[in-house]
Amino acid sequence: MALVNSKKMFEQAYKNGYAIGAFNVNNMEIVQGITEACKEEKAPVILQVSKGARAYANHTYLVKLVEAAVIECPDIPVVLHLDHGPDFDTCKSCIDGGFTSVMIDYSSHPLEENIEETAKVVEYAHKYGVSVEGELGTLAGIEDEVSHAVGSYTRPEDVEKFVKGTGVDSLAIAIGTSHGGYKFKPEQCTVNEQGILVPPALRFDILKEVSKRLPNFPIVLHGSSSVPQNYVKMVNENGGKMPNAIGVPEEQLREAARLAVCKINIDSDLRLAMTGTIRQFFNEHPDKFDPREYLKPARANIKELVRHKLVDVLGCAGKADECK
Ligand code: G3H
Ligand code: 13P
Ligand code: ZN
Repeated sequence: MALVNSKKMFEQAYKNGYAIGAFNVNNMEIVQGITEACKEEKAPVILQVSKGARAYANHTYLVKLVEAAVIECPDIPVVLHLDHGPDFDTCKSCIDGGFTSVMIDYSSHPLEENIEETAKVVEYAHKYGVSVEGELGTLAGIEDEVSHAVGSYTRPEDVEKFVKGTGVDSLAIAIGTSHGGYKFKPEQCTVNEQGILVPPALRFDILKEVSKRLPNFPIVLHGSSSVPQNYVKMVNENGGKMPNAIGVPEEQLREAARLAVCKINIDSDLRLAMTGTIRQFFNEHPDKFDPREYLKPARANIKELVRHKLVDVLGCAGKADECK
């Protein structure tokens, strides 16, 4: 089937208590790893492209890679989404260039400006059947293009005004997740009996208050990588240095998916799986230099990681048909 917008996916996800995985794509192996898992698990999927990804790989290459995945996986619905669109012009260029969903991220601007810019994108996007995600609140994090030194939680009292004033199809909120591989400082965490750092809980009270004010409205969580410790270890044992890399506990994401959260963004976990695998390969095979030899296990590990997310975290495995 052709690329779709996110409308049906979110309706089904909301109604049935699961979330759609929104995975960032930057090259062919990442696209393949994600979509092969989704194909085998019969899961709907959102493939998302950031401003940085467009700068790195080029808009056309990314669109064509995603179109190739659609041909290879004809039975699953796929959304091509702009992640963290910084302004109207970038959103317009993606809408004109084949995307079926865009995010306009004006969350670091004052509320009125956020509403104004987001409404402008919605007006344009809806003419072409393209879905729009807006954001209220800012995530703390260390990602380059989307960093905010200090995060601020979404204020539930703003959400009705924002959604009514813009016409957005989904809303990203800040409830304690953050971008990147270092989401929590050790001093923010507690230590459990096994000596493992336990991050602070997400603010489910804010999520519940937002969804009370916006009944049946799809909520999005950014910064939702869990930073799997097996891959952190793999990186660190093979020449890398990622001290105190900590992510969002997967049980909390599963809980959010049962509530109003319909889209969960995952990028850093894919990067970590790829980097850990390649580091290990180089360490074990210092004589090898064929990129296919080290990209193949990296792609395979991305696929298994995505399969785990679909089945155990998002709950969207087997849901492809109902989202068509
Ligand atoms: O939320 C941000 C995504 O992880 C994309 O990151 O700007 O490095 O492509 P990027
Ligand atoms: P992570 O850095 O936690 O993977 O978040 C990705 C994201 O929110 C993309 O928009
Ligand atoms: Zn994000």
